Amino acid sequence: MTRRTMVTGGAGFLGSRVVGALRARGVKEIFVPRSRDYDLRRREDIQRALKDASPALVVHLAARVGGIGANLAHPAEFFYDNLMMGAQLVDEAWRAGVEKFVAISTICAYPKLTPVPFREADLWNGYPEETNAPYGLAKKMLLVQGQAYRQQYGFDVIHLLPVNLYGPGDNFDPASSHVIPALIKKCLDAIDRGDREIVCWGDGSPTREFLYVDDAAEGIALAAERYDDPAPVNLGSGMEIGIRDLAALVARLTGFDGAIRWDVTKPNGQPRRCLDTTRARQLLGWTATTAFDEGLKRTIAWYRERRAGEGVAASPAAAHHTGVYTPRDNAITTNFKEVKFSVQARKFDVALRRFDEGPLRAEMRARAASLPAGLEARTRAALVARDAAGVERGLMLFFIALAHDLAREADRQLAASTAPPVPVAQRFLEAIWRYYNLVDFAVGQRDPKASTAMRLAYDDAETVLRATPAADAARARAAFRRIAEILDALTVD
Ligand SMILES: NC(=O)c1ccc[n+]([C@@H]2O[C@H](COP(=O)([O-])OP(=O)(O)OC[C@H]3O[C@@H](n4cnc5c(N)ncnc54)[C@H](OP(=O)(O)O)[C@@H]3O)[C@@H](O)[C@H]2O)c1
Repeated sequence: MTRRTMVTGGAGFLGSRVVGALRARGVKEIFVPRSRDYDLRRREDIQRALKDASPALVVHLAARVGGIGANLAHPAEFFYDNLMMGAQLVDEAWRAGVEKFVAISTICAYPKLTPVPFREADLWNGYPEETNAPYGLAKKMLLVQGQAYRQQYGFDVIHLLPVNLYGPGDNFDPASSHVIPALIKKCLDAIDRGDREIVCWGDGSPTREFLYVDDAAEGIALAAERYDDPAPVNLGSGMEIGIRDLAALVARLTGFDGAIRWDVTKPNGQPRRCLDTTRARQLLGWTATTAFDEGLKRTIAWYRERRAGEGVAASPAAAHHTGVYTPRDNAITTNFKEVKFSVQARKFDVALRRFDEGPLRAEMRARAASLPAGLEARTRAALVARDAAGVERGLMLFFIALAHDLAREADRQLAASTAPPVPVAQRFLEAIWRYYNLVDFAVGQRDPKASTAMRLAYDDAETVLRATPAADAARARAAFRRIAEILDALTVD
């Protein structure tokens, strides 16, 4: 499979694994529209994303998601955001000539009382469980829409229904997490604090099925490759476990040996959940392969490492997504902005003066040996010629070179030091992030390929770091080398 692909939500928990699974299948050009750049609830942003990516395949994972608490607190947003993203994206993708659209739905689309295991044929036999109905129904409209667009326009839209997922990289924020990360965090927090009891929501009686995130990603990639039919397909593991047993299992695997108390004033959610996966097996040739114990152990190990590797939780990209990261400008980036904004306002005389007087040009001169030949002179000439695109290209190459040097330096320092690698790596990632932002800012629209490659390299590094054990410098170094390699290719003028 080689077609150009856009994965919405491709930097999220499931999305980043789907990007990995597609890459493993040979898809090289993958565009991930980040919410900070493209708010997919807005039609204009969707149009811009499709224009920038010109994909043949769209895998739609972007969504407002969360556990029962988040669904209860924000039912309106769970409905509106998911409905608007899905409805407008399918329509615009069809208008843009996209060949295939993979819609990712959810088990929350099923009726509250469905015979277990849930079969796709029972999807319309009742209203979903109340706590997550707005979310589940908004997602379910993707099925109606996909079938309608297939019927009227012949648009190849497929619809997949993954069961509850878990795995490394899951969301552990108690305000929005699902049950497995919530339980793991509760147990580890209790161990850290010396508490002898944890409190869980509901009475522990419901049952749930869980699918390891990499298994889900594999199923989605396979379906994108092979499946072309209006019928929805469940993606599940076929296991079913009571929440009470799950809590006991997580407690055992984390080493928490205190009491588990059930807060029956809190809702249980859907009584039973378990999917029939016959269709996925027959039509996709897919079955989940990760044993539940094993998946849980990996998830707990990942989260322990994350807690241990201080600073990772506050990584710049993660913080930026949640709106708390303010890039700290230095003299060079401030000067860059002065030049850039003056060019944007077509005040080339001011831009030239700022360039001539500021540290940006001096830095370009100082680094001339590692920059494309004559970059400083060419950028200045473009300013004199009032050539905005030429100026931006010059500035982009400069910041790519700076980010590249930082990535190499990170690799060198990690090799030389015996200190824990994650905090060091985190500082470098933050600095690279600042320059990456500027690169994107300068050329986002004009050179989407460079921008996308940079973005993916960064996201990759962040994902690797998140999963890197505190003492494993080799993995952190590999992430920086990958950034440097991609940047190397981009600095070829
Ligand atoms: N987790 C589960 O158990 C589960 C189970 C079944 C189905 N699913 C489905 O799988 C998909 C991914 O879920 P996940 O758990 O991986 O969630 P996640 O980590 O929160 O990822 C969701 C992604 O959606 C993007 N997004 C949210 N609002 C956006 C907006 N307005 N514009 C553009 N992008 C936006 C975010 O992108 P940025 O990072 O750029 O902000 C985020 O990375 C969802 O469609 C969900 O319904 C999940």
